[in-house]
Amino acid sequence: MSAMQKMMGWIDDRFPLTATWKAHLSEYYAPKNFNFWYFFGSLALLVLVNQIFTGIFLTMNYKPDTALAFGSVEYIMRDVDWGWLIRYMHSVGASMFFVVVYLHMFRGLIYGSYRKPRELVWIFGMMIYLALMAEAFMGYLLPWGQMSFWGAQVIISLFTAIPVIGDALSTWIRGDFVVSDATLNRFFAFHVIAIPLVLLGLVVAHIIALHEVGSNNPEGIEIKKVKDPVTHIPLDGIPFHPYYTVKDIVGVVVFLMVFSAIIFFAPEMGGWFLEPDNFIPANPMKTPPHIVPLWYFTPFYALLRAVPNKLFGVIGMGAAVLIMAFLPWLDRAKAKSIRYRGPIYKTFLTLFVISFIGLGYLGTKEPTPVHNIFARIFGIIYFAFFLLMPLYTSIEKTKPVPERIPE
Ligand code: HEM
Repeated sequence: MSAMQKMMGWIDDRFPLTATWKAHLSEYYAPKNFNFWYFFGSLALLVLVNQIFTGIFLTMNYKPDTALAFGSVEYIMRDVDWGWLIRYMHSVGASMFFVVVYLHMFRGLIYGSYRKPRELVWIFGMMIYLALMAEAFMGYLLPWGQMSFWGAQVIISLFTAIPVIGDALSTWIRGDFVVSDATLNRFFAFHVIAIPLVLLGLVVAHIIALHEVGSNNPEGIEIKKVKDPVTHIPLDGIPFHPYYTVKDIVGVVVFLMVFSAIIFFAPEMGGWFLEPDNFIPANPMKTPPHIVPLWYFTPFYALLRAVPNKLFGVIGMGAAVLIMAFLPWLDRAKAKSIRYRGPIYKTFLTLFVISFIGLGYLGTKEPTPVHNIFARIFGIIYFAFFLLMPLYTSIEKTKPVPERIPE
């Protein structure tokens, strides 16, 4: 027995290292037909690690104080060795997190990955999504620019629409009657430790739940239904390691090429990843003419503005996010994957994507009457996709799903 084997034996007698490696990698059997859409889970993990790593270094020089915050970010950008790189990796990373997560969620929609038995994988995913939104929102206050301040001011003020407790609640969230030093300090605490801890815990739960039931795939076929009678290994499964570790590395390399290109050549992405107004220090006496959140929030922001009543706007915005959590129970189709579904589902899904992107675009624009009409139409389509789903998925005939993954 080699020294290495002896050491592994010593560890395994005390900690399930080899057993964990086998259960989650070398003997975790994933469907053999993963495609492009299956890159985004591992990429989301990569971006999460990037955000934590760069965040730690930013925290070393950032000052959570309204008098110092803006200057400390400028100091990071100009004076700290490689500070500009760390900051851009973090700010571009935030937007890329949402790019990756939206594509990851869309994969769930096209292949029915949220369906039984993966409801909890989806629910943990939704909780991750909510945590991610809170994380991004609070992080955006930290540079203490004009958009940081006024964005937070607008969003926290939404809570005043809640009857009876609204005013007290928004004051409680801010820790003051306006967004102030108290707000900046608590958002810092939430952004650097509280939410990242929650996020990490949720990601672990997400993957444990996934490995308990096994991955779905582009065919929506349950590979566990057909196993080798002797080895009990799914006939359409392949070990995650080395097959998918190698495949994921390809995704990582391509992603890093895109990521670096943005960081080095267009870190502000024309105002989409860092808004021009946020290079002006926060001024509570001067409201910017056009307050807009970053692109990943604009679909929901457009919905909020499309409703004339503030309270109903807030409810509509919240409902637009929460309704996604109910997908596992709204979808009644016999087949999971879009490959076996009919034209009605495909049409609804296409309209949903158009309305989501349309709302996202309108959320970046001034709320003119014409824009509002479009936002309302898109809003109706958005909700129709979910609310009518039990109906159109149960009446539509699906193609028969084979037992085995076709060659
Ligand atoms: C930090 C964010 C996230 C990370 C790190 C993450 C990670 C992962 C990983 C590694 C996988 C397995 C590989 C893959 O299928 O691509 C996965 C699968 C999955 N994730 Fe996520 N995820 C995140 C967010 C989300 C969100 C927001 C949702 C949905 C609301 C979601 C829903 C799912 C579903 C349904 C699967 C199973 C897909 C299938 O088997 O077809 N995830 N996730």
